[in-house]
Amino acid sequence: TESPSGGRSGALSPRPPVTGDVKKIDVNPPKGTRDFPPEDMRLRNWLFNNFKEVSRLYGFEEVDFPVLESEALFTRKAGEEIKDQLYCFEDRGNRRVALRPELTPSLARLVIQKGKSVSLPLKWFTVGQCWRYERMTRGRRREHYQWNMDIIGVPGVMAEAELISSIVTFFKRIGITESDVGFKVSSRKVLQEVLKSYSIPENMFGKVCVIIDKIEKIPVDEIKKELKVVGLSQEAVQDLLQVLSVKSLTELEERLGGSGEAIADLKQLFSLAEKFGYSKWLQFDASVVRGLAYYTGVVFEGFDREGKLRAICGGGRYDHLFSTFGAEDIPACGFGFGDAVIVELLREKGLLPELGQQIDNLVCALDEELQGYAATAANMLREKGQSVDLVLESKPLKWVFKRAARTNAERLILVGKSEWQRGMVGVKVLSTGEQYEVKLDDLN
Ligand code: HAM
Repeated sequence: TESPSGGRSGALSPRPPVTGDVKKIDVNPPKGTRDFPPEDMRLRNWLFNNFKEVSRLYGFEEVDFPVLESEALFTRKAGEEIKDQLYCFEDRGNRRVALRPELTPSLARLVIQKGKSVSLPLKWFTVGQCWRYERMTRGRRREHYQWNMDIIGVPGVMAEAELISSIVTFFKRIGITESDVGFKVSSRKVLQEVLKSYSIPENMFGKVCVIIDKIEKIPVDEIKKELKVVGLSQEAVQDLLQVLSVKSLTELEERLGGSGEAIADLKQLFSLAEKFGYSKWLQFDASVVRGLAYYTGVVFEGFDREGKLRAICGGGRYDHLFSTFGAEDIPACGFGFGDAVIVELLREKGLLPELGQQIDNLVCALDEELQGYAATAANMLREKGQSVDLVLESKPLKWVFKRAARTNAERLILVGKSEWQRGMVGVKVLSTGEQYEVKLDDLN
């Protein structure tokens, strides 16, 4: 039954016959996943628009890939956590497929597919949903969206410096400062140099990094054990763990000697950070390794200075990923920036934007038989680029005003009989209360 005050119930169409027992569905989405009702969608769009606008400012082109990929794209053999978290299954054609846990392998696949038809360097960005069967913690979910920016074809640290600059620009745009957030930076070449001095074969490198990345999550003894299992001597393990505790570049230089690539890269990065104007955001921290096996050089992560949240974003150089897919290597680096931790941080800092619905006009017929005319007026406005919430039923004025307030409508356009006969409609500007009549043709 229709209620005059505009309740939810209206006359329903006839119902088709129901067979069998009907059980009420669980209205929650699967564990770890989210719905996006309008208020959450507004926040998501605001965030993504900032991701996209920053990418545009840096001259990056947008790309996209399927959420469903071949499982083989993600089954690296380095013991990464991400592989155990894979949502994978066999499709109806007996193909092993997986919901992507990250975007980088898809990007590499597309670059390889494009081959010589694209000219380097490529600067690509994407915002896409990723799936990981995670243990849920604050800011970690089973599905999340990631903003990625990647530079393909630039071997030097200038590329990493540019990527970090873009993230800093993003933070500043949304009101986050260097007192809220910083970047921990290191290079995997630091570990590589230590491993080299113990003649550890290069193909062990990814595995060792993946083990070391777990240092803050599992007991050190466990780490030592795992490193021994992959063939590291006690001495090498000791040396590695000591290097990880180094917190300044000067100290690192003392340990490794000044001639290696690790020191050279990091020094250059810090010097570029000054030129870019974000050196206050950056700090060297040898314990940053990142959990993905493919990184080969500079690695970095964004962290909240209060230490309450997990990494906000992370990335690095991955110069040898392409050859693991059977293609020629191309120097590459990039980052992933999730949509979950940043929202937690904005909430903590009271920086979440207030985003209401925003409608230019609410158009309403004052009589049921004028509804068609209200539609004519609504469409005239829409053709002029104005948004219109057209009242689709006969409703009392009280209801109409309530709705206009809820949708933040700027104006109310009332279509009444006598006005329409004179080719006019009534206008009420809701912020000022100003009221007037205007010729239909002049409505804009
Ligand atoms: P990642 O460090 O695995 O890197 O993830 C990057 C970011 O994605 C994290 O810092 C976090 O913001 C977000 N993230 C990851 N997992 C979750 C989760 N379960 N829930 C919420 N947010 C999450 C990569 O994925 C690399 N592919 C990034 C990259 C691009 N490296 C080079 N290019």
